[in-house]
Parts: sequence; C-alpha cells; structure tokens
Amino acid sequence: MTAPLPKAELHLHIEGTLEPELAFALAERNAVTLPHASAEELRKAYAFEDLQSFLNLYYELMSVLRTAEDFADLADAYLERAAAQGVRHAEIFFDPQAHTARGVPLETVLAGLGRALEAAPERHGISTRLIMCFLRDQSAESAMETLEAARPWFGSLITAVGLDSAEVGHPPSKFREVYDRAREAGLRLVAHAGEEGPPEYVWEALDVLKVERIDHGIRSLEDERLVERLVRDQIPLTVCPLSNVRLRCVDRLADHPLPRMLEAGLLVTVNSDDPSYFGGYAEDNFQGLRAETGLTDEQLRRLAANSFRASFLSPAERDAHL
Ligand code: HPA
Ligand code: ZN
Repeated sequence: MTAPLPKAELHLHIEGTLEPELAFALAERNAVTLPHASAEELRKAYAFEDLQSFLNLYYELMSVLRTAEDFADLADAYLERAAAQGVRHAEIFFDPQAHTARGVPLETVLAGLGRALEAAPERHGISTRLIMCFLRDQSAESAMETLEAARPWFGSLITAVGLDSAEVGHPPSKFREVYDRAREAGLRLVAHAGEEGPPEYVWEALDVLKVERIDHGIRSLEDERLVERLVRDQIPLTVCPLSNVRLRCVDRLADHPLPRMLEAGLLVTVNSDDPSYFGGYAEDNFQGLRAETGLTDEQLRRLAANSFRASFLSPAERDAHL
C-alpha cells in the first residue's frame, strides 16, 4: 500500500473510537458488566438499521468509561490509529452529557482527554482541537447548563461546540440561545445536519445557529438553492462515507453522493465519524471511495487538501500542511 495522504480529520466522535477489545479491558478494570459475552460477540451486534439503533449501542458501551485514565487511554488509542492512517490534525468531538448523566464529572472527562491531546503532537505527530457536542435529543436547558459548566476550559481545551445524537424531530433552532451564548464566548460553531434530517435543518444550522461547518450534510443535495448557498459561501461539509452506509443513509459506497458533491463545487471533506462501529478509520474511508466510486487520485488529493482548508487551524498552521 502506498503511504496514506496526509489529512485532517474533522468529524470524529471520540466515544465512537471505542474498540470492542478496549471496551472489555475497561469493563474489567472498572468492574462493569457488559451484556455481551466477548469482543467477537459484541462486533456481531454492529449491524445497524438506522442512526438510533447505532446510538443505543454507542451509549450502552460508554458505561465502561469511568476514570480520567479511561478517557486518556481511549483518546490515545484513537490517535495512534489515526497517525497510521495519515491523520496529522484531528478536531475531536466528545459528548459530555452522555458522561455526566452517568455520574462521571465533566472534570474527569476533560482531565483524561486533555492529557492525551496534550501529548499528541510529540507522541503521534498530530495536532488537535476539542469540540464539545450537545445531545440534540435532550433539552436546550441541559445544553445551556453543559455550556456553562465547561466555561473554565473555553479557549484552552475546548475550541468549539457541536450538535449530535438523534436528528429527526430535533431541529437546530431548538438550540438558538445556546449557540448565541457559545458565539459570545468566542467558541467556533459546527452542527450535525442533513444526515437523516431534511435540508431545512441545514438551512437552520446556517441561518439560526450560524455554524461555520456542517457535519454530514449529504441531504443538502435535495435542495438546489441550498447547494448554491453552500457553494457560494464555501461552507465545509464533513462527510462520513462508511458511516452513511452502515447507518443506511446510503445503500452502498458505490452510490455515495460524495463524487456528485465534489462536482457541484462543495467544500467536501472525508471523515470516519465513529470508526470502531462503522468499519474504518480515515484512510479506510479514502480507500473505500477510491475502490467503489472511482474517485481519481487528483480528487482524493483535493479531498485531503480540503480537510486542512476546512479546519480550525490558523492560516499559517494550515499552509504548513498544504
Ligand atoms: N450522528 C449523530 N450523532 C452521533 C453520531 C452520528 O453519526 N455519532 C455519534 N453521535
Ligand atoms: Zn457524527
């Protein structure tokens, strides 16, 4: 195999990098019982119907993450795999409410993630940013409390906020005040939209939440005016091909709309979302696209360059990668 292209990963849920073997190791360390006999048995459960069926398992497995050391080990394991796949910069999501709801304090989560991220440039040759996501199927009040609780880490460990979890029925506009507050605090803004939800949710993320990037956004293609807007403003879309197939947003990789999105002039990037669950890390997504959609080497190089262009790196840091 030729060396993977240097790239940035901009859509990666750290909890979605929990490999079955690490889940069992942490379960043992923390005396947590998992309702699966073994790592192999657990892998067999990774056949999803839709986003919700994945989220059920994703939240269940998080029960093994309890201490700062657990979060540090999780993030370090991801960074090691990412480095082998050509990732040089990673903007990493985490879901604080999924941990605080289980009695794991925010400080514990951030102590562990912070330790791994701080070591990443030296240890793995990867620079990082951390993006705090709100669970959109929980209340706006809960999101606001989470935002306020995280204030001590703004601008140091936490760079941006995002919005994830069950999309349909939870439009971006539900979080208008939370995003207003985050913007006032100087945080960068992103949101998942147009994964399972309609193009209207992408419009809302842009016009109500005023996000700088759209996570997924594949359903934007259903709305010509929206595509024009995204092209005009060169709003980055963090697309996750293997995720879209596993969650049945797209039938097969060969049918993935990414080549059409590139053709349309959209600023598209390729990402792994929840790689432990969806069958591949960053370069695996690139290779899958190459094999199944016939994207050319030139198009793959453009996608890798887009990933740095769409990142929250400073212009000077960005140029150093291009
Ligand atoms: N979509 C929405 N929420 C998520 C995802 C996803 O793909 N992964 C983890 N939380
Ligand atoms: Zn995601």
